[in-house]
Amino acid sequence: MNRSLQRFISCAALALVLVLSVGSFSLLAKAANAGEPQGIPALREIYQDYFEIGAAISGTTLMTHEELLGKHFSSLTAENEMKPDGLQRAEGRFLFHIADRMVNYALDNGMKVRGHTLVWHAQTPDWFFKDKDGNRIDQKDVITDEDRQLVIERLENHIETVMTRYAGKVYAWDVVNEAISDDGRYILRQDSPWFRILGEDFIEIAFRKAHEVDPTAKLFYNDYNIERVYKRGRTIQMLKSLLDKGVPIHGVGIQGHWSVNDSIEEVEQAIKMYADLGLEIHITELDIGIKDVSEASLARQAEYYRKVFAMFKKYSDVITSVTLWGISDQATWRPNDNPLLFDKNKEPKPAFWAIVDTDKSWEENKALYLGL
Ligand code: XIL
Repeated sequence: MNRSLQRFISCAALALVLVLSVGSFSLLAKAANAGEPQGIPALREIYQDYFEIGAAISGTTLMTHEELLGKHFSSLTAENEMKPDGLQRAEGRFLFHIADRMVNYALDNGMKVRGHTLVWHAQTPDWFFKDKDGNRIDQKDVITDEDRQLVIERLENHIETVMTRYAGKVYAWDVVNEAISDDGRYILRQDSPWFRILGEDFIEIAFRKAHEVDPTAKLFYNDYNIERVYKRGRTIQMLKSLLDKGVPIHGVGIQGHWSVNDSIEEVEQAIKMYADLGLEIHITELDIGIKDVSEASLARQAEYYRKVFAMFKKYSDVITSVTLWGISDQATWRPNDNPLLFDKNKEPKPAFWAIVDTDKSWEENKALYLGL
């Protein structure tokens, strides 16, 4: 072998050694990276095997919170824009532009939409309840058949127009909202104009119409405190009697406007009771209040969120959706209670980290993902 050939071979060998060692070094480096911080995880991925994770949004937060919404949530609810006063402020004049924008955003981003809400005593314009002379029917001493017919027509027409527009787009509707009385002497809320005019029939009429208009939609009865002992017995009684009559109700929405002092056990019992009726359960408006944002309060809130999500996961065969009533404490209907997962600067709070893995503390989760 001549000299230059020898030199060539030893150069090639050296190059091979170099290439191999650089390669294995980068493999080693990669292995080390696997244990390194990965940044903030997406809730919708964490919960994909359990239930939809949703947020209520407004026309404004759809823009200001778009990044968080798109990253973390798989379901969307309009906080006000699909209520009767949002869609039909004047009779026959439907305004769909904001609701349409939300629905289109959701569909473009692979999210589901919960429709909220068709029949409610609040946020419903007066005209629904006025006779042709402009008098409030619900305040009359004598309500005629003609009055009742007029109100039924309006109720059915509202449901028909709204549900037809969103058929195949809104997969679940809160058909009736907050009909149960807080007063133990009554099953139904007595101050609802729907109840005063139509009696208990308004609920059945609404669900039957909704099912007729979009037979593929999941139809929910939605209310607050129906997990609490004082109210759940009456709610179950009402739902049972509707189900016995064959009224198409598919699920119950537990709103979940709670505070860190509320019993989680009571919620768990209620979930079992509603599941026993054969109903699907959505947590529809979750927010958990604290009175200040001291470290101790934030930690307490985190622990409450951790426990309640651990419980929800246990029942994920019946709980198919959990919606937060907002995204950050910058835009919430409970501005003094700081009840959401992101703070006023849209940064994740301890409560966010707590639900990332409910088997660990929020501090552990945060350290694992951010390496702090
Ligand atoms: C609230 C909205 O968050 C507020 O912006 C609005 O001023 C009043 O309604 N139960 C419901 C929701 O079913 O529609 C309510 O939303 C909160 C209580």
